[in-house]
Amino acid sequence: MTADTIAINQKMDQFDGHHSVWLFGYGSLIYKADFPYLQRRPASIANWTRRFWQGSHDHRGTPDAPGRVVTLIEAPGAICHGMAYLITPEVFAHLDHREKDGYLRLATPISFEDEEANNASESVLGLVYIATPDNLAFIGEASERDIAEHIARSAGPSGPNSDYLNHLAHALRELGRDDPHVFEIERHLVELASRMART
Ligand code: BEZ
Repeated sequence: MTADTIAINQKMDQFDGHHSVWLFGYGSLIYKADFPYLQRRPASIANWTRRFWQGSHDHRGTPDAPGRVVTLIEAPGAICHGMAYLITPEVFAHLDHREKDGYLRLATPISFEDEEANNASESVLGLVYIATPDNLAFIGEASERDIAEHIARSAGPSGPNSDYLNHLAHALRELGRDDPHVFEIERHLVELASRMART
């Protein structure tokens, strides 16, 4: 599949005619909402898990030396915590461009997790951007230690790959959510940085 997904995403018509759509963010969208939105609420989606398995050629790496960013991998029974935004359809043009390196829009049930949801299972059908293993930018599985080493040496037009990891870890802590994969990579990155400082 082509890595440039803008044209494919623009053909998605599932929410045509809707005045607003809920979008679930699980990576940079949690901490970087550079688009207008009507509401923002902590939320989760079921049966997906966050992994630093997607290559980034245009944000946290380069075509010659891609960085690593998150995508979602199917995992029955898993819950991925993040942030949901209620947006108008025009915002998708911006997001399709921002997330063009392999991410496709997918319709998914989104469960809200704030006090308004009142512990009841309040959910809506919305959208999430997912980079599936068949996209050209997909890198795939590695140990958290190897991923940390990869992130430590990567940078792109949006800045160091390690900033992306650190912002995400911080945002998850602010949400009060654990993510062993993200926090273990963070721990290895800290270790690598202190080793570098000693040499
Ligand atoms: C997200 O935060 O949901 C997201 C991150 C990277 C690409 C697409 C979506």
